[in-house]
Amino acid sequence: MQRHIVLIGFMGTGKSTVGKLIAERLQWETVDTDDYVEGRYGMRIADMFRVRGERYFREREHEALMQLMQRERPLVVTTGGGIVLRADNVAQMTDNGWVVALTATRDVLVQRLKNDSTRPLLAGDVEAKVTAIWGERRTAYDFAHLKVDTSHGSPEAIAAHIVTTFKASCADFK
Ligand code: S3P
Repeated sequence: MQRHIVLIGFMGTGKSTVGKLIAERLQWETVDTDDYVEGRYGMRIADMFRVRGERYFREREHEALMQLMQRERPLVVTTGGGIVLRADNVAQMTDNGWVVALTATRDVLVQRLKNDSTRPLLAGDVEAKVTAIWGERRTAYDFAHLKVDTSHGSPEAIAAHIVTTFKASCADFK
């Protein structure tokens, strides 16, 4: 049975960029859970947080993951950094996917995220927010089958490494 490839990781670790490159290499479709929620509800994530609250978003995010994991054809699914906060999401991902955690050092993340205005959880002092959330989620991504540091190295090289490892470790890959 072919499984989905699921990318998890903290905000700014490069999930969407690397996910698109993996999908190109494998000629698979890629779907991002944030984009999926935004498309379905016609609302930007930041507006959803502001208008409906984080809890509402987490429910929509959970539904999106459930629907994507049930797709017949294998997908490269890229996820929001907080998807790992729910145990039922973790179970969905490990049951239906080969899970890759992208990581980066705290300093690299702060550099990448410091001018970002799209992520509601980072509004205000980005460095302080990254540090606080990073502390809370320190071990939250550890369940992945593979961990890849994206602090250095091109997205292309990182995607190539992930595809090579996937082909070697998923014996049923055709
Ligand atoms: C979040 C990460 C975001 C988005 C939302 C919440 C989080 O996605 O889902 O702003 O809790 O880490 P990215 O990881 O793609 O930035």
